[in-house]
This record gives sequence, structure tokens and C-alpha cells, in this order.
Amino acid sequence: MRKFEFYSSSRIVFGRGEISRLGELAAQFGKSVLVIHNGSAAIADRVRQLLVAIRVEFVRQKGEPRVDDVDRAVAIGRQHRCDVVIGLGGGSAIDAAKAVAGLLTNGGQTTDYMEVVGKGMKITRPALPWIAVPTTAGTGAEVTRNAVIGVPEKQFKASIRGEHLVAKVAVVDPELGLNVPPDVTAASGMDALCQLIESYTSTGAGPVTDALAMQGVELAGGSLLKAYQNGNDLDARENMALAAMLSGITLSNAGLGAVHGLAAPLGGKFPVPHGVVCAALLPWVIQANVQAATHDPAGQKVLHRYAQVGRVLSGRNDLDDPAAISACIQAVGGLARQLNIPPLGKFGIQDQHVPEMVSLARKSSSMRYNPVALSEESLAEVLRNGIAGSPRQAAPDQSGAAWR
Ligand SMILES: [Fe+2]
Repeated sequence: MRKFEFYSSSRIVFGRGEISRLGELAAQFGKSVLVIHNGSAAIADRVRQLLVAIRVEFVRQKGEPRVDDVDRAVAIGRQHRCDVVIGLGGGSAIDAAKAVAGLLTNGGQTTDYMEVVGKGMKITRPALPWIAVPTTAGTGAEVTRNAVIGVPEKQFKASIRGEHLVAKVAVVDPELGLNVPPDVTAASGMDALCQLIESYTSTGAGPVTDALAMQGVELAGGSLLKAYQNGNDLDARENMALAAMLSGITLSNAGLGAVHGLAAPLGGKFPVPHGVVCAALLPWVIQANVQAATHDPAGQKVLHRYAQVGRVLSGRNDLDDPAAISACIQAVGGLARQLNIPPLGKFGIQDQHVPEMVSLARKSSSMRYNPVALSEESLAEVLRNGIAGSPRQAAPDQSGAAWR
């Protein structure tokens, strides 16, 4: 028996050069635009020229959005009576724009609507019309209905969430990714791949998200290293832009898993890029999930899903499930090594932090979608391995013997 709901942006405009339509698209919704951006000045200038026919106010988003950033941008939007918002840049700018669009029509302060660390009030009114224009290929924030916001005094990141927060239009132009530096390409791309794999194996997975996730895994598996090694490879950039967008659709409908469960407290307390956390932990979480599923009578379905991912990433359709699962773990670990993803220890995360991080991770929203229940000790081992990183990160469990 099947039962599911499915959300996405009402309109996705995808393709090389499609940014040129931004003026026409924004004018459909209003006359005064608030652009929240990060990334290159060249792209911001290009957008300024595209919006020359309407009033524009630019706000720069520095780093990942925090409560104060959102409240400040909302005040600017009110002051200039903006009726359209554009989020331009990486996931940080897009999530900030999403939250600002929601607050401009729902009123109040950012913390009023935040899960876990705020009042958790519902977004009940449609957000101000907003357009998402991603420049990095990673979070898929252009098509999700939650904005991740940091609360510095609590050293925690949490979401504002609601169906009213979905963008009116997502403009995904792969050419905007051409100048993204290799380390950002690597971390963002591993975030996308991780989101695709976690949503494919999530307890919330469904038939629509399965199809999209597997297409995304194939795209990211075939193109991430190419985009990292040659930033001008536009075919690779296009494939990654599509994979990232698909990951946003699948995560917002299917949920994620233990990697993102651990990423929430780690990202709140330590200055580590989200995609680096994903890359460092993904092989170890897969290994832990496989071990737990092997000892669970209902775990066969989970094992079969990891095997499917392994076949796609290795291009080896002939592999049986045990060999394909080993291929899956080796592929994600090997990719992180080829992308020169540093271990988490490089960011000040130490073994002494493990108990606190694991305890917080168990309460995070992503953890409940992990395909199997992981013990506290199992999560602690995952995190210790992510802290130590290479060479163990590169190829954990090469024999597959741990779960056979
Ligand atoms: Fe993510």
C-alpha cells in the first residue's frame, strides 16, 4: 500500500543562460526587490543590470545565516516596502531569503518560528513571493521548504519550516557555478550526494523521491570529481546543478538520516563547512547502518537500497548485494579522499566532544529518518572515525566482512 505527499517549487527554470530571464520573472511579482546574496561581486553586478527596470535593495549575507541576519534583512525589506525577495548565491543566501520572505508576511521575530531552539510557531501565511537563484551545487535549498538558521548563543542550528516558504520560482543556471572554487565545489557536491543517498535510504522514502534520488546519485557520482578537477567543465557543472536540485526535492519530501543528524550540532558548535561534515561521516554512517540492518530481520530492504546505490556509483550492475554494498562504501569514501576533504579533527572537533555531539544529534529532526536505529556507541564510533579521517576515512570496510 502506498501513501505519500509531494511538495516542490511551483516552477523550476533550469538551463545555461536562464539567469537572463530574472528581470522578467521578478517583475511578475512586484516592483521593489530585496536581493539577499553571497558569492561573487560579478554575479551580483550582473543581477543588478538584469533588474534595472525595478527598484532593488541588496543585502549581503556573510557566512551561514543567523537569527540577527534574518531580523536585520527583514527590517530593510520593510523599510523599503519590498514586494519580492531574491536569494542569490549558496545555500546560506538562499535560506536567508527564504526566512526573510516568510517573516515579511507573517510578522514577529525569527526565533518565534524556529524549531527546537525557538517558539516553533507555524508559518500560517504565504511568504512574500521569492525567487531562488543558486550559484553553488549543493544544498538544494532552492527547492526546499525549510531555512536553516544559526542561534550563536545556543551554539545550535535549527530550521524555520513550512509549505508556505517554498520559492515561487527556482532559476537554476549551471553557468553561475563556473567560478566556484574547488574546495566549495567538493564540499557542496558531497552534501548533495549525501542528501540523495540519505533520502533514498530514509524511512520517509517514496516512489517519486526514489526515482529522483537515483537519477541524482548517478549524476553526482559521474560528475562531482570532474567539476572539482576542472571548474570550467560546463557539462559537469550542469550535472551537479541538477543533482543538487534533485537532492533538495528528495530531502524535503523523504527526510535524511544520521549524517545530517550529526551535522546539525557539529555545524552549530564548530566552524566546519556543512558539506565537509557530510563527506567525512557518510561512509561511516553507511557502514554503521549496514551493520545494524544485518542484525535486524527487517533490514533486508535497507541493505538492498545501499546495494543499489553501490551499483550506480560503481557502474557495476552485475554485483550481488554484498559486493555492491562494499562498492557503495568504497565509492563514497574514495570520492571524499580524491576531493581532498579534510577530517573533522582539522576543525577543532576532538574525541572529548563526541558524547555531547551524539546526545544532541539523537534529538535532531534528521535522525528519526535514519533507516535503522543506531545506538549511542555506534554513533560515537561514527563520529570518532570522522574526526580521525584518512586513511581510515578513505576506504572503511574494504572487505565488506563486517556485515556478511
Ligand atoms: Fe545537507
